[in-house]
Amino acid sequence: MSYLIALAGKGGTGKTSIAGLTIRYLKEKRRGPILAVDADSNACLNEALGVDVHTTVGALRESSLETIRSGTDRPGGMSMEELFEYQIHQALIEAEGFDLLVMGRPEGPGCYCAANNIIRKYTDMLSEKYPYVVIDNEAGMEHLSRRTTHRVNLLIMVSDPTVKGVKTAKRIDELIDELKLDIERRVLIINRVMGEEGERLRDLAEQLGLHVAGLIPQDGTIFEYDMIGKPIFELPEESPALQSIYSILDGLQIP
Ligand SMILES: Nc1ncnc2c1ncn2[C@@H]1O[C@H](COP(=O)(O)OP(=O)(O)O)[C@@H](O)[C@H]1O
Ligand SMILES: [Mg+2]
Repeated sequence: MSYLIALAGKGGTGKTSIAGLTIRYLKEKRRGPILAVDADSNACLNEALGVDVHTTVGALRESSLETIRSGTDRPGGMSMEELFEYQIHQALIEAEGFDLLVMGRPEGPGCYCAANNIIRKYTDMLSEKYPYVVIDNEAGMEHLSRRTTHRVNLLIMVSDPTVKGVKTAKRIDELIDELKLDIERRVLIINRVMGEEGERLRDLAEQLGLHVAGLIPQDGTIFEYDMIGKPIFELPEESPALQSIYSILDGLQIP
């Protein structure tokens, strides 16, 4: 059984940054092979992790569908299922201490259904082989709502340091209930906090019934790294944001 951590929150709140540093944390704690899944078509988890992407599951799906449509011979006479399973393994990018799977283009409407179901099945099967899976999710909950086989153990909702941000997190929290998603534990992290407002936002979130796992300060080093295109994965240990995330993750006592 793998322990599955997913990130949620509106765009720009810091999901990808926190996902990247969570992967680094798990790697440093030697928590065994980690699968990083970039499920956000606009995200660049690979950049946060400092890994080049040669292909995506979405791109391979398109080429497989093309192969099937054109009636071209499939390699080794593979069935459609075998073809997709093979391609998910082709899309897996091996890095030091973790593997990365980039989902790529969003799943299209209806017509892709069969292909997407197969992809989901094999992605889930692949996930099961890793003790830890970290999913950098798209802003909505679409991806999680489509998961069928296994539960999310820890959902980290991320908010910016505004009242609006916390209220948006509350809506995500309600959506999870509506969608009846199988999530063992959900917490909120308020990111990019400057000064005193963080504690007031923490109080507001708690009043709304959210469990606040911690606050992460606005960190100039993250901005600097962004400016020069350096992966966040390489942030110095004394970075305040990195230290906050590490102590939040320590506090969460991930098994
Ligand atoms: N604690 C922080 N301090 C400073 N900048 C941050 C912090 N967290 C995130 N950022 C910056 O905010 C922007 C959005 O972060 P990102 O992780 O891409 O958000 P999301 O994945 O939710 O869209 C990025 O430019 C990132 O470098
Ligand atoms: Mg992102």
